[in-house]
Parts: sequence; C-alpha cells; structure tokens
Amino acid sequence: SSVKQQHRTAYHFQPPQHWINDPNGPMYYNGVYHLFYQYNPKGSVWGNIVWAHSVSTDLINWTPLDPAIFPSKPFDQYGCWSGSATVLPGNKPTILYTGIIDANNTQVQNYAVPANLSDPYLREWVKPDDNPLIVPQIGINKTAFRDPTTAWKGKDGHWRILVGGRRKHRGIAFLYRSRDFKKWVKAKHPLHTKAETGNWECPDFFPVPKIGLKGLDTSVMGTNVKHVLKVSLDVTRYEYYTIGTYDTKKDRYVPDKTLVDGWKGLRYDYGNFYASKTFFDPNKNRRILWGWANESDPVQDDIDKGWAGIQLIPRTITLDPNGKQLIQWPVEELERLRGQNVYMINQVLNKGDRVEVPVGTAAQADVEVTFNFPSLDSAEEFEPSWRKLDAQDVCSETGSTVEGGLGPFGLLTLASENLEEYTPVFFRVFKDGKKYVVLMCSDARRSSLKDGMYNPSFAGFVDVDLSDKKLSLRSLVDHSVVESFGANGKTCITSRVYPTIAVGDNAHLYVFNNGTTSVTIETLDAWDMKRPDRMNI
Ligand code: FRU
Repeated sequence: SSVKQQHRTAYHFQPPQHWINDPNGPMYYNGVYHLFYQYNPKGSVWGNIVWAHSVSTDLINWTPLDPAIFPSKPFDQYGCWSGSATVLPGNKPTILYTGIIDANNTQVQNYAVPANLSDPYLREWVKPDDNPLIVPQIGINKTAFRDPTTAWKGKDGHWRILVGGRRKHRGIAFLYRSRDFKKWVKAKHPLHTKAETGNWECPDFFPVPKIGLKGLDTSVMGTNVKHVLKVSLDVTRYEYYTIGTYDTKKDRYVPDKTLVDGWKGLRYDYGNFYASKTFFDPNKNRRILWGWANESDPVQDDIDKGWAGIQLIPRTITLDPNGKQLIQWPVEELERLRGQNVYMINQVLNKGDRVEVPVGTAAQADVEVTFNFPSLDSAEEFEPSWRKLDAQDVCSETGSTVEGGLGPFGLLTLASENLEEYTPVFFRVFKDGKKYVVLMCSDARRSSLKDGMYNPSFAGFVDVDLSDKKLSLRSLVDHSVVESFGANGKTCITSRVYPTIAVGDNAHLYVFNNGTTSVTIETLDAWDMKRPDRMNI
C-alpha cells in the first residue's frame, strides 16, 4: 500500500522489492556500467543471497536484469557472497566472489566469467568447474575469509588480490598472488593487519594521485601515487580507511604515521554507510565509490514494506590536496535529475531564525548551501573532557537546539511544519586553544514520532581551513535517506529516517541558526529531484 511505500526512495538505487546489501563487482565495460549487489530474491530480510544485476549508461538510470550469479554448484550452494570485478587484458571481465560451501559457513573464493562477451549487457555468467580458486588453508578462520578485491598487477606481472578476515581479534587483509588468475598462492605476510579491529569485511585497496583529481586504474603504482586501504568493521558497522604507501618490494601497505589506523581513524561516512567498494571508471577517468545503507526501522516494518536496503549515490573519490584525507562528491550525472530550482543569496540568519526553503518536493531534493560568518571570536570553548569522546557523543550533548556561539546552523530536512519531526544537518564551531574544531551532525533523534527506530545523532569532525569564514553543506534528501557532504565532501554523513508526518508533500526544508552569532546564507540552491528512468534494452 502507499502508506507502506512512503519511505521508498525515488532516486537512490533500489530494486522493486526484497532485501539488498553490499554493492558487488561494479565496473564499466564497453560503454555500460554494471552494478551487482547482494540480494535475497525471496524476501526482505537477509538470506538466500545471490548477485542481482543492473546496468546503466550514466550511473543514475538503471535497468534490472536477471541475477547474474546464484547458488548452483558445490562451491557456492549455500550462498554467493561479496566480491569484485577485474577487467583482464584482452578486455575480458572476470568476477571473483565468495562461495559458501556448507551449513557451517565455510568460505571459498570463486570466479565467474561472461557466457557471451558479445552480449552488450553481459547478462549470463558461468562458473567454470575448476572452482573454487582459493580455499582457506590450515590456520585460517574459514568463516571469516571473504570479499575478494579487484585485482592489481605488480611489476613482476603477477596479479594480486586481498581477501578479508581475522585471527582472533586481529583484522587481516590476506594477500594472494597469481600469474594466470587461476592458481592463487597466499603470500607469507598479509598486505596489512591491525590488532583489536575484529573481522575485516569488504577490504578495498587502490591508488590515488598525489596531485590532481583523476582516478587511476587499480594497478597503477609508483612515486606519484598514494594508496588507500579501506575495511568494513563488522564490530562497529563503520568503514575506516587510511592513506599510505604501498611498499611493492615487501608487498606491504604502510599507513601514514600521522593517521590513526583503527576504529578511531577516518571514516568514509560517519553515518549509515557500509560494505562499500570503489572501481576505476575509464570512461571519465575517475574512481567511484558505491556504498550500501541498511534500514534503521524495525525488522517487522521491513517485512511489511516488502523491501530493505538502498545503495547510496555513487561518489567520486579523490585525495584532499593536503594529503591527509579523501574527498567525496556525488557523481556529476546526478545533477541531470535536478528539476525546479529555488535559490537564496545574502540572507542573514539571526539567532533563533528558521527560514523555509520553498522547494517543490522537500522530500525529494538536492540542496547546496554556503554559509559565511563575520568572525570566529564567539566560538564556544571545546571542553577538554570532550577530547576523549567521538563526534557523535559531542553532537548528542549539544544538539541542534542548544544555543552556541557560532552554530548550530544548517538545514532542517524532512521536517514537519510544527517540527514534531525533523532531521537537522548542521555545523557547530568550537575553539580549542588556538585551533578551531568544526563539528558536523546529522541528528536523527527527532526524525520520527514512531518508536523503535535506530536514530542516532551521527556526527563527524570537519578538518577545514576556516580562514575564509565559510562552511558549505550539500544534502541529498530522498524520503527515508539524508545523505550529506560537509565542506565540499570532506566529511560525509548518511542517516536513514522514517517520518510519519513529514512525508511526501508534508515534508519541509528549512535553514536555521541557533547560535548567538548571525550567519549569512551566501548562496543556497535547492532543486526538486526527478525520478530516474529505466533504459530500454
Ligand atoms: C558485508 C557482508 C560481507 C559478506 C556479505 C554477505 O555486509 O557481511 O562480508 O560477503 O555481506 O551478504
């Protein structure tokens, strides 16, 4: 019914029904983008996992095809779990994925190849009989041994992949090498490990140029690039990454010393974003990141809705010129869905002001705003006791309504007219000695009048230079998701929310300031977002 469908997204990727999780094997091949993903063809809770398949020519309009990989052989009869695609020389795509071979959850790595390379959509995939390629050898935890990466090729001409896992509480990125992509040998040392991080799911390892914004093929290495290692921590359900150096002699990854390697380190997203994967897009020379957001409502609601899980908007991913973090931004193709525009310029927001942004469809919108402020003098003190906390705790202590010196200011998304429900996305600036600390929050605590939601005050710090006295924010609002990008993509936060009043035409968008210092909306642009179309194939 429509009541049950009021939280379906309009422009975020969703199949018509049922459960989805991790994006798998994204690639660009002969003019077509492919997205595979973990899918339950029988219901809206996790289980019966196959690789569903969709194709697109623009990353926005997707056409579903039949599942590409599903249990059918002894080496995957209990499930076809996550994996990656590599386009091998001769323009030959190959998928590596994890097969579950028994009821004890034993994991092996398999490969699949297109049945017919002349089919422009690669609809049918075959799993040759020399599978599995890799089985967990003695000493490896065989229920934590999965999610093979895209392969890269070393100077010796041998391919390399990572498989995620753990030994006790130590997270591990196992390294395997192969000359022919068939016979894989485990390297004596993992590419990287870290104590007390738990199981590493969905590892991803790729180069980024030190200078410039272009993406690089996964096999590029050398002095002009840095490498990124990302892992999904199933203990915290967040993804963390480091930037570092790939020591090709030792075949080891060394994170930069200035970064935290562990679950207090940098995250792709400080909200609901998991099991992500990047791929190199040779069509536009960029690296694109796909991430999954699960539902934050009770399981029974997912059963009633008949669906669960969305893929977030694909993001281009580049190295911050300062070398200390990555920058993410929605792919430019998303802008083709922008419809009616409303804008504001040079509008002052005094303490307590809340101004409506009269966008036509506030439940389905893209909004970009730049705030400026006269000075940083009134920034409140960052309490020393907060240094031990993470951003989310600081956000839950301060919130969007507690008056500050500089901030809180930002957007109220998916808001009901009388604010019974709203999801604020906002900044708050603190002074910590001679430095400034910028907190960005996406606070779902007041997002729904309904009980039983997982609705934390997600937050991250923003490592931004405030000398121009500006902060910018972009939020993609889509019925039950608010995906936000602070300071041009330095800090990203995604929330899933389930309003009961602020739905459809009753949803509103506001800008607000609850700080004592007046801030100015330098520019604001908001657009109604259209629904994507299917391609006709
Ligand atoms: C991550 C994950 C992967 C696994 C897949 C199973 O969300 O647990 O590690 O391959 O999902 O669906």
